[in-house]
Amino acid sequence: MTDPRAAIWDVLRGGARLAALQAMVELDCAAHLTGGPLTVPELARACRAHAPSLARLLRALAALGMVRTVAPDTYELTAAGAMLAADAPGSMRTAVLVNTHPSFVYAMTELTETVRTGRSAFVERFGVLYDHLADDPELGHVFNDYMTARATPMAQGVAERYDFSSVGTLADIGGGRGHILAAAMRANPHLRGVLFDLPNVVPDARDAFASWGLDDRCEFVAGDFFSSVPQGADAYLLGSVVHNWDDTDALRILRTVRAAMGEKSRVLLVEIVLPDDDTPHFGKDMDIRMMGLFGQGRERGRAEHAVLLEKAGMTVSDVIALPLEASLIEAIPL
Ligand SMILES: C[S@@+](CC[C@H](N)C(=O)[O-])C[C@H]1O[C@@H](n2cnc3c(N)ncnc32)[C@H](O)[C@@H]1O
Repeated sequence: MTDPRAAIWDVLRGGARLAALQAMVELDCAAHLTGGPLTVPELARACRAHAPSLARLLRALAALGMVRTVAPDTYELTAAGAMLAADAPGSMRTAVLVNTHPSFVYAMTELTETVRTGRSAFVERFGVLYDHLADDPELGHVFNDYMTARATPMAQGVAERYDFSSVGTLADIGGGRGHILAAAMRANPHLRGVLFDLPNVVPDARDAFASWGLDDRCEFVAGDFFSSVPQGADAYLLGSVVHNWDDTDALRILRTVRAAMGEKSRVLLVEIVLPDDDTPHFGKDMDIRMMGLFGQGRERGRAEHAVLLEKAGMTVSDVIALPLEASLIEAIPL
């Protein structure tokens, strides 16, 4: 019989593992190892670290599969570790930086208070996340990088699995850098894009689209999705937007989108669909993060998505599975 404490130890080990990953990123170990294996003293010099402590960090990171020993006291990057270099395509470096940023950590350490009151301790201290990011442009930039990295596999999934042949204009609402929109536009040369986000985010998206050579097929609109969004697109994509908000605000966003839609337009939500049972699911961890950061921002099950969409005047017409346990939920006007 398994020791009943094993599951608790397993969770407790997560803290040390996350700290090791954070140190690897903050010391930029991956960048220094991209040229090939280094001995511990060589890497310590490059990272300006204390060699005996770095040796212990590397031992733990090897156990986590981020580096591997190639000779005594000599390490090289694994494929996973290479994803922590800033310039790796789809780099996960900013995912680690955001999730270990003191304000994001605060959202987690104060979870008990959030559960007691139903109000996010993070919001009470730092304000709504997107205002906090606007007030701290450096963190805002890192956050947008992180969203891009997170959206990359989902973007690929959307581009490969959704049929855009009858969509002329795709509006990406709260699109961030517009990674999902860009992937759909690359795979569908007929598609024109509209990228809609807050004024502090749009310039970043414009630069990204210029660097991808897609800016001449895309319009960039700054605004607030609680007030209005651009009219008349054939499809409205909302990627990981609705899960940031409680039902009242999520409904306000969906109603604003519905008001801009024509009778033949559709909505494409890229969201997690939570399972109804106790199975482990990435979305259940993400839901805890949403609660810490937003209070009543939440992941939803299929029925909850359907109810929200229906209240906004739409009905679910298709659900397509995407990578990272996400789904594309297509909805059409009722
Ligand atoms: C979790 S991010 C998702 C970004 C992107 N759609 C993706 O899938 O990676 C949510 C986005 O909503 C945007 N946003 C937040 N509040 C907004 C508002 N009031 N109006 C427009 N965009 C907003 C944020 O700036 C951010 O880019």
